[in-house]
Amino acid sequence: MALQQSAFAKQQEKIAHLQKFIARFKAKASKAKQAQSRVKALDRMEKVAPLLAEADFSFEFREPANLPNPMLSLQEVSVGYPAPAGKTEPTVIVRDISKSVLAGQRIGILGANGQGKSTLVKTVARALVPLAGQVVEGKGLSIGYFAQQELDVLKPADNPLEHMIALAKETAAAGRLAGQETREQDLRNFLGMFNFGGDMVKQSEGSMSGGEKARLVLCMLVWQRPNLLLLDEPTNHLDLATREALSVALNEFEGTVMLVSHDRALLRAVCDEFWLVSRGGVAPFDGDLDDYQRYLRPLKKQLAQAETEMNTLQAEQTELHQQLACTTDPGQLAAAGKRLKNVEQSLEQLEERWLELSEAIEQAAGTSSAGAPP
Ligand SMILES: Nc1ncnc2c1ncn2[C@@H]1O[C@H](COP(=O)(O)OP(=O)(O)OP(=O)(O)O)[C@@H](O)[C@H]1O
Ligand SMILES: [Mg+2]
Repeated sequence: MALQQSAFAKQQEKIAHLQKFIARFKAKASKAKQAQSRVKALDRMEKVAPLLAEADFSFEFREPANLPNPMLSLQEVSVGYPAPAGKTEPTVIVRDISKSVLAGQRIGILGANGQGKSTLVKTVARALVPLAGQVVEGKGLSIGYFAQQELDVLKPADNPLEHMIALAKETAAAGRLAGQETREQDLRNFLGMFNFGGDMVKQSEGSMSGGEKARLVLCMLVWQRPNLLLLDEPTNHLDLATREALSVALNEFEGTVMLVSHDRALLRAVCDEFWLVSRGGVAPFDGDLDDYQRYLRPLKKQLAQAETEMNTLQAEQTELHQQLACTTDPGQLAAAGKRLKNVEQSLEQLEERWLELSEAIEQAAGTSSAGAPP
């Protein structure tokens, strides 16, 4: 509790510092932009400060060794999966992405299920090779990737300490993180900060709970001292306290965050800009999370309208089919045939529209299905 109190006090201090900066520079045109970004940071911080007071676990990301700017840039990148055996065509999921990711940006990635959010993040994380275009990385880019499937990467027979030792060896062998503490005691201390104390560092991973595994992966992530965090549904396995701790830690993280989450509270606390992955493309979403919800409301109305029109046309289509079957009069046949063609064309267009609208609406479900609104 003492630690927590001091962390809380520290954050209050930071808030005071930000407030001073804003007060001093708000009126100064040359510093207006910096002041603006601090207004945003302050806003985020004030939202999470009370959380910290309740959480019984907290951690922080370490200050990144450097902050390349841009972190990376995507140049006409298409993401997807290589051709399956026996086929020649790869499966493109999202195409023609040209975007830069800058130092300090906090990007929330929105989109309905199956639109390609994970595929995009995996490609940035180098777990997938782009199918076209290129990803140009900033010098010194150090990616920390946290995904659900990442939990399966843990070796069931190994315990947290063994995982940390392996990670330390790996990074040392790769020549990264020079000067990083690697003695067993250091690693134990590090694990201790993530509530793996005493005998728990020796508990086999296979017998750990989902939440404990997630906490271990988080620990390994922080240890790597990334400057770009790629988080794909990071909170699914986390308990409330750890979730809050993550939210606070992300808030104070000085690097760049790209976050995919259905947890609106987390998106709200962490991100201040959004990308929308939809229908094979990525577009910036011009607004905040509330705008995103609002933007979907008229869509529902349009969807209902499209449904009504479709029903009317379908009824007419059935009737025309009957007419065509029963009528012998050539004039009537021709008229019914012509009308049927029109009806079917309109139906096809409506169906397409209906699909588009439903997709857009699923995105609403995508960001509102979990996480209580703050
Ligand atoms: N190995 C694979 N080979 C071919 N297609 C795949 C592969 N893995 C995923 N896909 C397809 O790629 C598309 C995008 O999947 P992705 O996991 O990126 O979606 P998502 O936006 O993260 O969805 P969710 O919100 O459900 O996590 C889906 O249609 C999926 O079926
Ligand atoms: Mg996904």
